Amino acid sequence: MKIGILISGRGSNMAAIVDAVKSGEIPNSSVAVVISDKADAGGLAKAAERGVETLVVERRGRTRAEHDAEIADELEKRGIELVCLAGYMRLLSPEFVRRFAGRIVNIHPSLLPAFPGLDAQKQAFDAGVAVTGCTVHYVDELLDHGPVILQKEVERLKDDTVETLTQRILAEEHQLYINALKKLAMDARATKQA
Ligand code: GRF
Repeated sequence: MKIGILISGRGSNMAAIVDAVKSGEIPNSSVAVVISDKADAGGLAKAAERGVETLVVERRGRTRAEHDAEIADELEKRGIELVCLAGYMRLLSPEFVRRFAGRIVNIHPSLLPAFPGLDAQKQAFDAGVAVTGCTVHYVDELLDHGPVILQKEVERLKDDTVETLTQRILAEEHQLYINALKKLAMDARATKQA
């Protein structure tokens, strides 16, 4: 499975994926490129340190469709089979979603469909839920929406602040994303062998 990862920021999920591909925990896969829409994304250095090609494709006043078309061209040039969104802070255009139909996945820090959108951990915290978590899902044209691949629950503890809860969710995100990609890589291998 040839993977391309889109980021906008810190890139801790991206780094977890790259490390799991390198160790073989995610089998028969490679991360061919990490693309950021922000030149100052911290994740770019993390990807470069790991020997992964990085690319910055900024929006620069263009329409969303034009910006996405450039990213899609770069992914296609490299033969990317699966696009992983990892803290990518833009909604994808319908054209992009169609070009990679069924081949785009995202991680979100809540138990979707609860709390889509920004600051999902704070939304859950403020709502006073006893349990929240994280979700890996296929991406459609709507925000934080599409068929769920895996979810992991995270309990809200008595002494939690938004920050401590967010930290514990993030630790689970890394493993959940790895587990979801492992499942997709094994399914892809089975399909190729059939
Ligand atoms: C994660 O919480 C992810 O679920 C959300 O944005 C955050 C990105 O963190 N979509 P990182 O860039 O992977 O460290």
